Amino acid sequence: MALLRGDPVGLSVPRKTLPSKCFYDAEGSRLFEAICELPEYHVMRMETAQLTDIASELAGFVRDGAALVEFGSSASAKTRLLLDALPGLGCYVPIDISQAALDWAVAALVDDYPGLPTWPLAGDFTVRPHLPDGADGRPVVGFFPGSTIGNLPSDEATAFLGRVRMLLGAGSSLILGADHTRAASLLVPAYDDAQGVTAAFNRNVLVRLNRECGADFDLAMFEHRAVWNATEGRVEMHLASRTDQVVVLGGRRIAFAAGETIHTKNSYKYHPEQLDGLATRAGWELAERWLHRLTAPNGKEWVFGTTIMNAWHRGREPKARIAFTDRTHQFRQLIPVPGSSIASISGAECRGLGLGLSQIRCLSDAPSSPNRTVCDRPGLWCLGESLNDT
Ligand code: TRP
Repeated sequence: MALLRGDPVGLSVPRKTLPSKCFYDAEGSRLFEAICELPEYHVMRMETAQLTDIASELAGFVRDGAALVEFGSSASAKTRLLLDALPGLGCYVPIDISQAALDWAVAALVDDYPGLPTWPLAGDFTVRPHLPDGADGRPVVGFFPGSTIGNLPSDEATAFLGRVRMLLGAGSSLILGADHTRAASLLVPAYDDAQGVTAAFNRNVLVRLNRECGADFDLAMFEHRAVWNATEGRVEMHLASRTDQVVVLGGRRIAFAAGETIHTKNSYKYHPEQLDGLATRAGWELAERWLHRLTAPNGKEWVFGTTIMNAWHRGREPKARIAFTDRTHQFRQLIPVPGSSIASISGAECRGLGLGLSQIRCLSDAPSSPNRTVCDRPGLWCLGESLNDT
């Protein structure tokens, strides 16, 4: 049942969901590699083509001796494009939740980059926020490709970028790859291909539940669906029940009505400006963006963007403030958070003030966005930690 630890209710609530980590076991990783090769899946091809074009320009932003920190290491062609363009790199730090994925990535790279010290970091970096000693004193550049940022809703994406900012430290930069394609006619096939690879990838979560949690899902009775949700700006992945049925999982009986779905994954297609808003609130400032566009035969466009951002410099941070609102969302109080690029308040502090999380919004005044930004959802989107560097 370890797979569902921390999320025991995902399948017992009216709108069924599963945690994203369910996708990536060995078979899931193999299927994802196959997705990247699909004619319909533009994300990998667009990003690789773009990095090939801009690698030397990107190199202009990276100082000699820098540590390159990659989130979700894959030892992919993209990593190699960067490593080739950055011969002066001091070390490479791939970070991945899976030790197996890291071992594989590192083994694949050492032969080709024998002079490059590689310090893999396994585990959840949000829990152990320190770079390996080998990166000490070096300029730090993060690399977060693959539009993985789009798998997070905006509040989680902000929190993630904030933690990355904290890990990489003052003076660091971050190279972020994000898909901006928003044409349903291009997006739906990218997540529902003719060969059924994405369908197999999605259904693999049920295979895992059967194997690891003693469930009895009949795979033939669940259909893969990819839907463009224009209101939310995201592709949603679902597994839809083909019939009324009851599935047993860990001794529980879970009823599905015909057509009812398990919502397994989202892929948000943020506008570039939306992404800038998220990044700003997390302590990053846009340095440069490259957009790669391709026009499809039907006239619609695939758009992929690579952005390089710099951590706010001390003394140049936007002023962050926490606004407490009452139930009608009228401001009651504004508390400045001096010298911090992001406002933060813990659950305990909220309770101490007699406030519920839904009564709190964060505002930030960033030089690049003169209008204050209100976070998209009320609640604790911020980090529970100050981003000040000492
Ligand atoms: N980051 C990828 C994306 O959203 C991941 C992905 C590709 C994916 N295809 C998928 C996730 C299908 C779930 C299902 O583009």
